[in-house]
Amino acid sequence: MDWKQEIVLCRDVAAIVGPVGGRAATTPASGRLLYDFVLHNRCGRVLELGFAHGNSTCYMAAALDELGGGSILTIDREAARLREPNIIELLAATGLAKYVEPIFAQSSYNWELLGLLERQRDGHTTRPLFDFVFVDGAHTWETDGLAFVLADKLLRPGGWILFDDIHWTIAASKAASGRRPTTVIDPAERVPQVGRVFALLVMQHPNYERFEVHGNWGWARKRRTRQEEALPEQAVSRLYETHS
Ligand SMILES: C[S@@+](CC[C@H](N)C(=O)[O-])C[C@H]1O[C@@H](n2cnc3c(N)ncnc32)[C@H](O)[C@@H]1O
Repeated sequence: MDWKQEIVLCRDVAAIVGPVGGRAATTPASGRLLYDFVLHNRCGRVLELGFAHGNSTCYMAAALDELGGGSILTIDREAARLREPNIIELLAATGLAKYVEPIFAQSSYNWELLGLLERQRDGHTTRPLFDFVFVDGAHTWETDGLAFVLADKLLRPGGWILFDDIHWTIAASKAASGRRPTTVIDPAERVPQVGRVFALLVMQHPNYERFEVHGNWGWARKRRTRQEEALPEQAVSRLYETHS
């Protein structure tokens, strides 16, 4: 399969999903990047947080189709079912449904990840599952800070994590959409919250390296050498023993 042929296949998907969604949806140009990344890094297992209509999901699923297999676990909220078209319809239109498991969460993807962590639990460690995690959901410090902690446990050493919208702020978004309130603006609205997660949690994490920022995207690779280590079982009880 040469690159020229791949482009044609990716364009087939773009022709269907390109007109879907608004400003928040992955564009054909960004979709091509996702497609190439998944294809050329052979990311067989993908976790996506926030799918909306499923644009980004379809581009990544097209890469799995090229690879001849793989799966995407993607999570949004129940309300995403009401989107027109919704991810189920978009996956049917592109013929890529067999690669994707969409979860419509009652609450938040972080609660779905709790369930996944419980299933992957192995004593004091978690069996990692994914080669690539794409975070494009809440865009808030509180939700996505925790999402990184949880996704990190499920990301294989050597795997990559990508954050969309690292420069995005609630204030600028409201201004752009004409929804800026005339009342006092919460200072948190001026903070690029995903950017803070990336700079303070991901880039300072000892297990991450190869940080790259391109436009609104922040990439990081989980180090290959270090596996998660089990906590010493007696650490807390010994602490209390020594203080009794
Ligand atoms: C920017 S859109 C995703 C766009 C999609 N990745 C694409 O590029 O086509 C963000 C999505 O995240 C979802 N979302 C936000 N917070 C969430 C949460 N805590 N749990 C689940 N989904 C969430 C929203 O419902 C929305 O559909």
